Amino acid sequence: MTTSAAKSEGAGKILHGPGRYDFLLWLLTLGKETAFREKLLRFAALKPGESVLDIGCGTGTLAIAAKRQVGPAGNVFGVDPSPEMIARAAKKARKQGVEVSFREGFAQSLPFPEAQFDVVLSTLMFHHLPKSSRPEMAAEVRRVLKPGGRVLVIDTGRVDRNKKSIFDYLHGSHRVDLEEVVDVFSSAGLEILETGAVGMLRLHFTVARVPGR
Ligand SMILES: C[S@@+](CC[C@H](N)C(=O)[O-])C[C@H]1O[C@@H](n2cnc3c(N)ncnc32)[C@H](O)[C@@H]1O
Repeated sequence: MTTSAAKSEGAGKILHGPGRYDFLLWLLTLGKETAFREKLLRFAALKPGESVLDIGCGTGTLAIAAKRQVGPAGNVFGVDPSPEMIARAAKKARKQGVEVSFREGFAQSLPFPEAQFDVVLSTLMFHHLPKSSRPEMAAEVRRVLKPGGRVLVIDTGRVDRNKKSIFDYLHGSHRVDLEEVVDVFSSAGLEILETGAVGMLRLHFTVARVPGR
């Protein structure tokens, strides 16, 4: 998907303020973003040597934490359409001495060959896509995963209007139903392994796998 095509086809809500984004995460996690990322990664159960793709990687904190888990034999890629987010992610990885490959790209047309990854991650990103593009992302996830490969999708659920927290005011109205995530990925032919609540910030998770192996 080119930038002009992206504009005309509704590519998603692309973020351009990486410094602001990291500050928001710092606020939401009360300064404990590393622990937050490790908690999210537990659902992916990464193993040393695995090959991982983080879609909509933003400023790269999750991808960097993933690389630490897969170790020197594993490799991690991050993709995001925002040049500003990618630049900050690459700088962060360099500064921390962690080797992650970040590149610009869209979830709907991933710049990778088929069957390259053991694991795909997507956190706080699915709601950025227009509804009509979500099945395209799921089809792409299936294409780039190896047979037996798995995907972890984490996003924010709906909230009762009377139960809004500071998170809802800081994070705005972004949300997606768990049922929709399940429906989109199972319609793309993935097998749903596990779903549930993350236990913080009203987040829910879905783990699914490509049949085979
Ligand atoms: C809320 S941020 C989440 C970033 C990161 N995954 C995290 O957990 O902090 C959503 C990201 O999705 C990206 N995004 C928007 N549209 C996208 C698309 N079509 N494909 C891939 N990423 C997209 C935005 O640029 C932004 O960096």
